[in-house]
Amino acid sequence: MAIAIAILAILVVAVVTLLLTANRRRATTGELSRETRERDASRRSDADEAEGRERADDTRAEIERGEATPAVRQPAGVARWEPVDEEEIGVSRRQFLNRAILGAVGLGLASFGGAALGFIWPIGGGGFGGKIRAGSIDELLGKIAETHAPVYVPEARAYVNPYPSSAVAAAEAAGYPSAAMPGLEAGLITLSQRCPHLGCRVPWCQTSQWFECPCHGSKYNRVGEKRDGPAPRGMTLWGVTTDGGVLTIDTGVEYPGMPIGTDTTEQKPEGPSCI
Ligand code: FES
Repeated sequence: MAIAIAILAILVVAVVTLLLTANRRRATTGELSRETRERDASRRSDADEAEGRERADDTRAEIERGEATPAVRQPAGVARWEPVDEEEIGVSRRQFLNRAILGAVGLGLASFGGAALGFIWPIGGGGFGGKIRAGSIDELLGKIAETHAPVYVPEARAYVNPYPSSAVAAAEAAGYPSAAMPGLEAGLITLSQRCPHLGCRVPWCQTSQWFECPCHGSKYNRVGEKRDGPAPRGMTLWGVTTDGGVLTIDTGVEYPGMPIGTDTTEQKPEGPSCI
């Protein structure tokens, strides 16, 4: 969309530039404007013509009486060849520079305008910052069971991992945000990939079945509750809906992870750490 707007703006600027240039050229090449030609035509009257004819008759009579000599037109002779100035037949250097500067300024303004419009254009429902369909809950659970790893949803920059139904009551008691509860009740938790410490992307460790941040060593269990390292809380949560058996992630609002000490699933590392 932003590219289309930028192209449109460039075309508008180009057309305006051409029109301005054409007008200036007409003014500088001596062509009379339509208004001037109409004014001249209206001034020509029959009285002027009669006066001119009378003057011609007087002159002719003076010549016949010998009181005046007829003016003899001299032969024009052969015109000398002179090289034609390039500026007369083509675009002058000044015109070229003017147009180049105008074009460059127009292009810059159009690009800036396009970028600004693209920046402020409202994001549709499908991108990050809006609601993103993660997929069918059954399919998500099936994939996780098959790979023993969370499903990563790149558009939402989020991990989807199973949440045990036996821990839902503990999650409610621990104060999990109500926007995340529909997911927990459907057996899934949705976590932001961003580490709550300094923002690194937290990778999944297949051996420990925990999230382990390589930047400063923070560790989180399968449901994103902090277990180790300098992070101030658990992994950030996204709100979700589960209408029609489909998990939709709302990336418009993020919910801070659970406080240190929260451990609703009591999951221990299931193998060696990755960091
Ligand atoms: Fe993850 Fe520091 S950014 S532990």
